[in-house]
Amino acid sequence: MYDISNIKKKMLTRDNVIYLIKKYKTPIWVYNADIIIKQIKKLEKFDIIRFAQKSCSNIHILKLMKQYNIKIDAVSLGEIKRAILAGFQPNNNDIVFTSDILEEKVLQEVIQKKIPVNAGSIDMLKQIGKKSPGHPVWIRINPRFGNGHHIKTNTGGDTSKHGIWNPIKALSIINQYKLNLIGLHMHIGSGVNTENLYQVCESMKKNAIQLNQKIKFISAGGGLKIPYSSKDTETDLEDYFNKWNNTKKIISSTLKCPLKLEIEPGRFLVGQSGILISKVYAVKNMGKNTFVLINSGFNDLIRPTLYGSYHKITVIYNSIKNTKNTPIIKSIIAGPLCESGDVFTIKKTGIIFPRNLPKVKPGDYLIIHDTGAYGSSMSSNYNSRPFIPEVLYKNGKFKLIRRRQTIQEMLSLETSL
Ligand code: LLP
Repeated sequence: MYDISNIKKKMLTRDNVIYLIKKYKTPIWVYNADIIIKQIKKLEKFDIIRFAQKSCSNIHILKLMKQYNIKIDAVSLGEIKRAILAGFQPNNNDIVFTSDILEEKVLQEVIQKKIPVNAGSIDMLKQIGKKSPGHPVWIRINPRFGNGHHIKTNTGGDTSKHGIWNPIKALSIINQYKLNLIGLHMHIGSGVNTENLYQVCESMKKNAIQLNQKIKFISAGGGLKIPYSSKDTETDLEDYFNKWNNTKKIISSTLKCPLKLEIEPGRFLVGQSGILISKVYAVKNMGKNTFVLINSGFNDLIRPTLYGSYHKITVIYNSIKNTKNTPIIKSIIAGPLCESGDVFTIKKTGIIFPRNLPKVKPGDYLIIHDTGAYGSSMSSNYNSRPFIPEVLYKNGKFKLIRRRQTIQEMLSLETSL
């Protein structure tokens, strides 16, 4: 039921990839709109789907989300501006600003545009309360436990900086400053295991009943896993929805107020839609190891280096001649950066981990799969390498949705003083 491999195959024909390479050069990000739409449909039972745009914040991706009635989670002034540019209405619950701090400029913006604030600290509530009494706010509760595919993506418990530990105290500040509490939110991490994900329902129930306020929304947060490798399991969405829907019903009948149930996915909506196409420039033997060096590095995709994340890698040969019976080689795929950790086949410990891949030579191409979430949005200019283009595949056509940054543009912050 959840299989999207056929949609993937449609975009990923050899002809299409070669067309993209010729037209836009490498490296390049490509997203498949059909996969995003399919993922949206899997969550349509939730009252509100709020896209965590940090996972993939291109304005054209946000526009696509808007066409499907998705709302937006923004975590910075830049993300608010992106959402507005994509057509989201700030005073219409379209955008919620989620953060643990409120800088002056973003405080001004949320007040001026009446954007609800999902507060991750008591100080935020005080700061907005002083300047904007009556402002709509959520409490982001830290349920005192968390989980994630890596310790760095666990956002619950006392080792995490996120959320409010004592919601009763938050409530007293909300009352003191006459803020308008509209929702309760929990997000315990990214790439969360099912057991921990389900515990959030219980914690939400307990906290909501204890706070006993006439709220309008509860949010289950994000965190849904996607299968990066064939061994990965997925959360049973039917079961997950039913658990949250029951939670909503119990809270709603106990508090005697109608409630809307939100979910706030990032990775789940876009992760599998994206690929990174790179070109092989060198193949080197270093003792027993074979290194395949490509033209994207952790400046483009940092997930393997930062978390030891696995991404499937496939080969597109420059020429299809003589590629039959190609030997399989234990290959270490690495980038161009002047840093040893610039490797895509690496474990959480930082130890390189060769992958069985068909033998390649300079001029061939590699596709790094499932890079739609936290790929481009986490890119940097490290080693002074410009941001690379993004292309969207929609209705059978490719459209450039971000052009390649020029070196001049990259340097202009320093040269245009
Ligand atoms: N809501 C909040 C408040 C969040 O902080 C996040 C993610 C999400 C929703 C969406 O989580 P998702 O559904 O995508 O798991 N860079 C890491 C992931 C960091 C997630 C940060 N917050 C990675 O590449 O795995």
